[in-house]
Amino acid sequence: MANTYAVILAAGQGTRMKSKLYKVLHPVCGMPMVEHVTSNVEQLGVEKIVTVVGHGAEKVQQQLGAKSEYALQAEQLGTAHAVQQTASLIEGLAGTTLVVCGDTPLIRPETMQALLDQHTETGAKATILTAIADNPTGYGRILRNSEGIVEKIVEQKDASSEEQQVKEINTGTYCFDNEALFEALKLVSNDNVQGEYYLPDVIEILQKQGEIVAAYATDSFDETLGVNDRVALSQAENIMRKRIAEKHMRAGVSIIDPATAYISAQAEIGADTIIHPNVTIAGDTKIGEDCVISSNSQIVNSVIGDRTTIRSSEVYDSSIGTDTAVGPFAHVRPESALGNDVKIGNFVEVKKAEIGNDSKISHLSYIGDATVGTGVNIGCGTITVNYDGKNKFQTVIEDDTFIGCNSNLIAPVTVGKGSYVAAGSTISKNVPEDSLAIARSRQENKEGYASKLNRKK
Ligand code: UD1
Ligand code: MG
Repeated sequence: MANTYAVILAAGQGTRMKSKLYKVLHPVCGMPMVEHVTSNVEQLGVEKIVTVVGHGAEKVQQQLGAKSEYALQAEQLGTAHAVQQTASLIEGLAGTTLVVCGDTPLIRPETMQALLDQHTETGAKATILTAIADNPTGYGRILRNSEGIVEKIVEQKDASSEEQQVKEINTGTYCFDNEALFEALKLVSNDNVQGEYYLPDVIEILQKQGEIVAAYATDSFDETLGVNDRVALSQAENIMRKRIAEKHMRAGVSIIDPATAYISAQAEIGADTIIHPNVTIAGDTKIGEDCVISSNSQIVNSVIGDRTTIRSSEVYDSSIGTDTAVGPFAHVRPESALGNDVKIGNFVEVKKAEIGNDSKISHLSYIGDATVGTGVNIGCGTITVNYDGKNKFQTVIEDDTFIGCNSNLIAPVTVGKGSYVAAGSTISKNVPEDSLAIARSRQENKEGYASKLNRKK
């Protein structure tokens, strides 16, 4: 959009959050609020995005990177003062400026676009995005005259009890004629209860100058929720969670109970995948088509191929191929790469391990710091002994090997291609290809001994 600029206000400390983390960095469905705002604004295709940073400036800039330009507000003197800090980047440009708060992560790009469209059509100098709140406490109220024309915005703390009855609220999102905005900002004073320079005061200033000031009322208050404390944060999370689940369902994913599907904003899920109740899909996770993710699974920053099943298991920072079965009760720890047609069964822990196609680890094993080839069968209770208390060592299990139950493989060690390890072995030396390794004490049978013992008793 030519001659359109966006300013995102993100310099506040967020005192009401009572947190060490700066407010706009608090995540909603796994993504910092301010990043939701920025990526929503990005979708409008504006010419320039400027984020005003102050508290936690470095961290906010790190988070948003090249998505935005930045203006520093060294002292937080109010939202009008915050916009003023962008002067060196946008003052004097002809066009429209959209201002959005960094703590309203739910306002959709479609709504911002509708606001911009109305602003352009009416030729107003300022248009406010408003909403009707059942409980408007904490928000600025929109005061209209008897003809319904917006006159000014009054903040909660400055409002008379009569004004506090007004349910139409300022969402903190506005469009301004850019040149008029910077002219009006010069006239804003801090003569109010909070001693701050309020951006909403620009509305009254322009109105009094005889300019057209308009409002675009959205019918969805939910979308405009401003997150000032942890209660609102959880409300935003609920609304966002529902929205994310709906997006996936409309794209062909079955979600049995959307209320308990905790899916990150970034996650991608293929069609015909089924998500059972109480599943967490966090971070940059990509799940293929026709997968089943059953209850109590948690998948974080991982890639899962088509037709794979994850049952009541945890998967972190790993990749899993197609047609693979994980769980129930398996733990795939970071940096693991499981191939296609793999089975990781109950009570199996895998860490920093590569598991080749068609390999199976079906029960009660620990496979860490290991490379497992293709077509390998690892019997119940197998353990890679990877740690001597100081260092970690690698285990290599080559293609088509068979590791008998309850084996210890003391790393560093290699089990050669096609070999067998007898059940109960403790393997401390490399096993050559095509061999049988037995490393356990020989069994001795003393015949007739049992009845002799019984007689003695
Ligand atoms: C603000 C509006 C209020 C509106 C509400 C919507 C003002 C004075 N009030 O109130 O009318 O109903 O949003 O959610 O604007 N910020 C800065 N620098 C500052 C102060 C704030 O960058 O000096 C940023 C904050 O980081 C935040 C945003 O501006 O992202 C809004 O500030 P906040 O303190 O949350 O204002 P509200 O009290 O919510
Ligand atoms: Mg706020």
